[in-house]
Amino acid sequence: MLQVDFANIDSSRVGPDRGVEWERELAAATPRLREAREALEARRGDPEAMLGWIRLPEADPAPLLDYAAAASWARDVLVLGIGGSALGARALAAALGGAGARLHFVDNVEPEPVAALFDGLDPRTTLVNVISKSGTTAETMAAFLLALDWLRRALGDDWKRHVVVTTDPEKGILRPFAARHDLASFAVPPDVGGRFSVFSPVGLLPLALAGVDVAALLRGARQANASAAREVAENLPAQTALAQYLAWRKGQRISVLMPYSSRLALLPAWFVQLHAESLGKAYDRSGSRVHLGPTPLGAVGATDQHSQVQLFREGPFDKLVVFVRHRQADRDLELPAEEGLEELAYLFGKSLFTLLSAEAAATAHALAAARRPNYTIFLDRADAFHLGWLLQHLMWQTAYLGELFDVNAFDQPGVELGKQYTYALLGRPGYEELAAELKRAGVKP
Ligand code: PA5
Repeated sequence: MLQVDFANIDSSRVGPDRGVEWERELAAATPRLREAREALEARRGDPEAMLGWIRLPEADPAPLLDYAAAASWARDVLVLGIGGSALGARALAAALGGAGARLHFVDNVEPEPVAALFDGLDPRTTLVNVISKSGTTAETMAAFLLALDWLRRALGDDWKRHVVVTTDPEKGILRPFAARHDLASFAVPPDVGGRFSVFSPVGLLPLALAGVDVAALLRGARQANASAAREVAENLPAQTALAQYLAWRKGQRISVLMPYSSRLALLPAWFVQLHAESLGKAYDRSGSRVHLGPTPLGAVGATDQHSQVQLFREGPFDKLVVFVRHRQADRDLELPAEEGLEELAYLFGKSLFTLLSAEAAATAHALAAARRPNYTIFLDRADAFHLGWLLQHLMWQTAYLGELFDVNAFDQPGVELGKQYTYALLGRPGYEELAAELKRAGVKP
């Protein structure tokens, strides 16, 4: 199960009548949320609407699993991709581990870590998965050029068996390159944007290679789809979107995601990209200038109780904090008694997971008592099924927020412009006008 506890969402109320205001607001917003659901449903058939991520959990993962089984010789997988082409798999691989290959992500292009990574890997047992929907992103292409050279030098003609390409079925330079060399390849559906692509081969292939139960991830994601199609009273993505939207309207313009789990420590990075790229927009859908978007921020409990929580509780009233907790540990440790440390008797015999859960509950209350709105997403366990559910829930939340803010949540013109300036600075043909602008502004690499 994935459940949401909204008891602390009303920053104006603590005590027995907490939640009353939220119920009133939810009732008032129900027609609008229903409209949002219908609008998303109506646009699903339009490839331009970029809603292909909704159907991804229905896809049969067999081709990916077959490929992963045949590639079991690979002890290490070098995943070359950035942004939406890396963050989902990275977060889930960190959370779910797996008995398969070790994944290494190259997203940034800082030479020292990249060189160290190549130095530490054996090309004979390494598979390179290059992932770029557009098939052009400079960071990924640069890493791919290096990886090709590294493989060729070590393996000669056998390099081809060590490369698998994930890209658009037609666009970009990777698809023809894969065809030319007869490389294994998978497609990113054209109507799925990068940050919504974790349940396409972008995320699922590396995860399958790492031995993660991708079928369970998809089963979980289907639960979020079912929830998002229900009436508002039972539609959790619509409800959390409303909570986020109202927080923004009331001045809580920073949206914190704080899982109480080290295994989920990389989840906020994925969420930050999802919300920032989808909702940080200059214009609404009618073309009016709006400059809106909650600023997403990551934290990890209990670690950040000793850091950011001070700011969350006593700093500006500008944050909505969302906790993610799981109800059951897969493995727990009992705290032993120790003579001479009787001051710790309150811990003796308790389990580590009980302590973690107490920390989470205490922090949520400490924020609520200081009239800081927060809510908690509860997962039964931090396993593939529930994480699949959670990620798809957050994608739906983003889509609903796009409707509430009336912005296109599926484009990223600011990110694209940054890519184009980079191409211009490096002299890529076709970008002469931007290059001239950069020259006038005195910008150099
Ligand atoms: O969400 C997005 O669209 C972006 O973050 C992209 O995923 C990122 O820029 C990488 O693009 P590509 O997969 O085309 O290399």
